[in-house]
Amino acid sequence: MFSAQLPGGGRLEIIGSSPSMQALFRDLETVGRSDAAVLVEGETGVGKNLVARALHHLGPRSNQPFVSLSAANLTDQLFESELFGHVRGAFTGAYGDHKGLARVADNGTLFIDEIGEMNLGTQAKLLCFLDQQEVRPVGGLRTARVNVRVICATNRDLRESVRKGEFRRDLYYRLRVIAVRVPSLRERLEDLPILSDYFIHRFNRHYGKSVAGLSDGAMAVLLGHRWEGNVRELENEIERAVVLTPDERKILSDTLSVEPEPIVRDEMQPEGTSVLRESRHAAERKIIAKSLQRHQWNVSATARELGISRVGLTRKLKRLGLRRPGTDEPSAG
Ligand SMILES: Nc1ncnc2c1ncn2[C@@H]1O[C@H](COP(=O)(O)OP(=O)(O)O)[C@@H](O)[C@H]1O
Ligand SMILES: [Mg+2]
Repeated sequence: MFSAQLPGGGRLEIIGSSPSMQALFRDLETVGRSDAAVLVEGETGVGKNLVARALHHLGPRSNQPFVSLSAANLTDQLFESELFGHVRGAFTGAYGDHKGLARVADNGTLFIDEIGEMNLGTQAKLLCFLDQQEVRPVGGLRTARVNVRVICATNRDLRESVRKGEFRRDLYYRLRVIAVRVPSLRERLEDLPILSDYFIHRFNRHYGKSVAGLSDGAMAVLLGHRWEGNVRELENEIERAVVLTPDERKILSDTLSVEPEPIVRDEMQPEGTSVLRESRHAAERKIIAKSLQRHQWNVSATARELGISRVGLTRKLKRLGLRRPGTDEPSAG
């Protein structure tokens, strides 16, 4: 886990103990110190914002501003005026002067999120700004020198965008002096239990509750989910479950809104390495074995508790190599 006290009083915490996250934390220490431009890559919700903040915090500019803006959902003109500022009357709606975030970030870090959404015209202006370290507000004549470290994030494959001519090659190399990839939750399911605990704790505090944790069934459902929305999706799922679960009780699989479909998923995940699959299987085996014991190997009752179908559980038992001690088959139940 990565943890740091921020100057403002808050804490920056990145939870994870999987090998891929440990490697990421080691990278953060070295890359953070360098002051180089960094491109943070990873699917949506994996924690790219957290990583960008950690990089800033670890670096030589930690006492200077960290300013972020997103290239998504802004027109070119709005993005440019956000970044470079504008003078009064530069365009319809520009009622006053705007300093621009590049200057607000002077001496600090400028974090540009969703850089892959930026169109070619704006890319050219950004590159020019980075090369000259100078900004000229939209509609203005005078330029100002600024000194910023740039960190960008994207959930796209920018290399592919470069190949397709949608992203400037020169800008790409300028931004990814160093690339840091944040792994998806799917690739590090072994982090799911500590992440869940962390969020349960956080939302208990936030809502003044005392939810006791996850039931084994709920844990099995979470482990089987695909997590397209990664940690953000898990965070939302846990928040909802904490709100809905009575104090002192555990979160049950029924309370969850994610689809309990662990069975088919296994076969649909050729991208998972065998180490990851094995660690997930080990976790599932433990949970399922405990539940089977509780129900004297009654498959229907166990399936019900785990929130999966009976057929699904039977197939899973076969795949995981789980057998009732002394027999060849699990009880017909
Ligand atoms: N490893 C982690 N530990 C704790 N919280 C995390 C972690 N990864 C992501 N989060 C939380 O999940 C949400 C999404 O993270 P964010 O950094 O915005 O993702 P991204 O920028 O990749 O879409 C945030 O609320 C963030 O605090
Ligand atoms: Mg983000």
